[in-house]
Amino acid sequence: MARFRTLDDLDDVRGKRVLVRVDLNVPMADGRVTDDTRLRSTLPTVTELSDKGAIVLLLSHFGRPKGERRPDMSLSLVTRAYEAVLGRPVRFIGDCRGETAKQAATDMQPGDVGILENTRFHKGEEANDPGLAREMADLGDAYVDDAFSAAHRAHASTEGLAHLLPAYAGRAMEAELKALEKALGEPERPVAAVVGGAKVSSKLDVLRNLVARVDHLIIGGGMANTFLAARGVDVGKSLCEHELAGTANEILEAADRAGCTVHLPYDVVVAKVFEANPQSLRTVNVHEVAPDEMILDIGPAAVEALADVLKTCRTLVWNGPLGAFETPPFDAATVALAKTAAALTQSGSLVSVAGGGDTVAALNHAGVAADFTFVSTAGGAFLEWMEGKELPGVKALEQA
Ligand code: 3PG
Repeated sequence: MARFRTLDDLDDVRGKRVLVRVDLNVPMADGRVTDDTRLRSTLPTVTELSDKGAIVLLLSHFGRPKGERRPDMSLSLVTRAYEAVLGRPVRFIGDCRGETAKQAATDMQPGDVGILENTRFHKGEEANDPGLAREMADLGDAYVDDAFSAAHRAHASTEGLAHLLPAYAGRAMEAELKALEKALGEPERPVAAVVGGAKVSSKLDVLRNLVARVDHLIIGGGMANTFLAARGVDVGKSLCEHELAGTANEILEAADRAGCTVHLPYDVVVAKVFEANPQSLRTVNVHEVAPDEMILDIGPAAVEALADVLKTCRTLVWNGPLGAFETPPFDAATVALAKTAAALTQSGSLVSVAGGGDTVAALNHAGVAADFTFVSTAGGAFLEWMEGKELPGVKALEQA
C-alpha cells in the first residue's frame, strides 16, 4: 500500500492552526440535515485535534455553487447541525480565504473549532487555482484531509493545498483507505463483487475493472436486464439499454478470459406496473418474462445461489442494489443477500466493503450496515476507486 502520513505523525499541535478538509456536503430538506453520517464521520479527527489543543479550521464544499456566493449553499446552514453532532461550540467563518478568515483564525483559541465558508464560492476551488490554494494555506500550519468522498476531485482544497503544507490523512480517510486496500488492493481470495443499480452505462468502467480483479461478479438491478438481453433473453418492458448489447458481451468475454465467473439471475420478480405490491406480481424463470412485464428484482432461487457463492468467498465489494429496493416487495433480494453478507462478516469468514449512495441506503434499509466490515459514505469517489482510478486527493497525500 502506498504510504501517507496520518495524525499519528502530527504531534505537538497545541496552538497550531490545522486546516481539515472534510465533506460537509450533506443532504438537507426544509433547512434540516436529513442524513448526518458525513458529519459524524469527521468526529474522530476533529475531536482528537481539538483535544490536543489544535485550532481546527474545517474546509468543505457544499453543493455546486459554481464560483457564486449562494445563500442556499452556505455552510452556515450546516454549522448548528455540526455543533450538535460534535457536542462543542463551532464558530462559522464567512470565507475560506482573505481577511475574514485570517482574522477568525487569529482570534481562535487552542481547542476551538471553526467552519470556513463553502470553498466552491470561489471559482479557483474547482480550477485548482494555486493562488486560492496559497491563500487557504496561509491560514494554517498543517493540512489534514479527511474527505475521501471528495478525493476524486482535483480541487484547490483537496489537491492543491496538500502540496503547500505538511499534509496528513485524517482518521476517516485512513480507515477508508485501509478498508479499500483490504477489499481490492491485496484482498483475501476468492473475491466477489456485487454490482447493481439501474444502468450499465454509468458503471461500464467499474465492470471492466472488476472482471480483471475479482473471482465472482454478481450483476443485479436494471443492469442485469441489459446483460440478459445481450444473451438473447427477452426482458419484456424491463428497464434495459439494448444499445449496449455489444458492450455487455465484450464485458462477459473479458470476464471469461480473466477467469471471473459472472452471475446473472435465472429467476426474477416481474410485474406489469411498477408500484408497491402490484397485483400482477410473479416470480418466473428469466425465459418466461411476458412482453408486457418488467423485471423489478432478482428471484429467490437466484438469491439462494448467490448466498452459496458468498459462502465460498473471503472478500466482498458491494455497490448498487439488486432490485428496485425502495418499493416493496422489490427490496427482497437486496435485503436477503445483504443479510447473508452481514452474517458471514460477523462469523469472521468474509471481509465486506460497500459504498455508494444507494448502497448505503439499501444496507440501512436491510438493517445490516453496521455488520459490514466497512461502509463508505462516498458516492462518486467510491465508484472511481472501483473503476481502478487514482484519486487526486489520495495521490496528493501520498506525495506529500
Ligand atoms: C459527494 O457528494 O459525492 C461529494 O461531496 C462530492 O460532491 P461533488 O460530486 O459535487 O463533487
